[in-house]
Amino acid sequence: MTEGARPDETAEEDGLYDPHFVKDVFDRCSGTYIAFSYLCSLGFTERWRRQCVELLDLPDADGATGYDLMAGTGEVWPHLLRHHPGIGAITAVDISTGMHKRALDRLHRHRAHRIAFIEDDVLKSALAPESADFVLSTFGLKTFNANQQARLAGLVAEVLKPGGRFAFIEASDPGGWWLRPLYLFHLKRVLPLVERVVLRGAQDFAMIGAYCTRFGDARTFGDQLRRHGLDVRDSRHFFGCATAVSGRKPDRASNLQPSGPGCRDGDPSPNHQGDDRNA
Ligand SMILES: C[S@@+](CC[C@H](N)C(=O)[O-])C[C@H]1O[C@@H](n2cnc3c(N)ncnc32)[C@H](O)[C@@H]1O
Repeated sequence: MTEGARPDETAEEDGLYDPHFVKDVFDRCSGTYIAFSYLCSLGFTERWRRQCVELLDLPDADGATGYDLMAGTGEVWPHLLRHHPGIGAITAVDISTGMHKRALDRLHRHRAHRIAFIEDDVLKSALAPESADFVLSTFGLKTFNANQQARLAGLVAEVLKPGGRFAFIEASDPGGWWLRPLYLFHLKRVLPLVERVVLRGAQDFAMIGAYCTRFGDARTFGDQLRRHGLDVRDSRHFFGCATAVSGRKPDRASNLQPSGPGCRDGDPSPNHQGDDRNA
């Protein structure tokens, strides 16, 4: 709940983070998502996907398997497979039938042998403990409130193998940047207007802008990952217009906080402060 929010605002926020509502938004967006996100971000989303993959420091990618959470249409896969050609398999998880179908039908048939799909709410999916060498997610955090982010952090800690790597990136509020008012104007006013005109009255991408501005940045999620015993590094991209968290699950032998199976809803404590860099 947002501190100081009126009850009606809180109810509205709760609705905003209801997985059924989120699924409907992305089902409606799926047809135009790729073009709209590329054009309206002026190409930055592609750059940030690439940077997220670069943050995923896989020491031995040959045959590695892992998850792309909130995978959408699989826009990050070309970057991932180019950067780590030896990757054995990616399992994509997404709640939206529309995004999922889009990925299956149009984009990635030639990579089909290396990609599996799970169409589900990630927080309800039964991903096996210690089943992943890596977990990756691009622009998949903003539709989770703080409580959901905490559960997601537990899931990441649970599914990673000891020594496994993770990287998440999300569009963020560039607090302190002198051009922030212009950026927010673009997000909150220009994009919804473009959408209404180009997509004949639709307001779904406007919703994505609303999620972005409420999200803040990825540090809250990073803190949750630390609470589950993961080594976490924070990074800022283009003056904080995107933020990322990346790192690793400690090896079993290392003497850090518990992070294995069973801690998804546990109460682990922080162990590591990440650094901060601009890129
Ligand atoms: C902004 S899109 C990002 C898609 C893609 N990763 C990219 O780089 O463009 C967010 C995706 O998260 C998915 N999503 C949102 N909430 C989810 C949940 N609880 N479980 C699984 N997927 C979810 C949406 O369906 C949508 O496809």
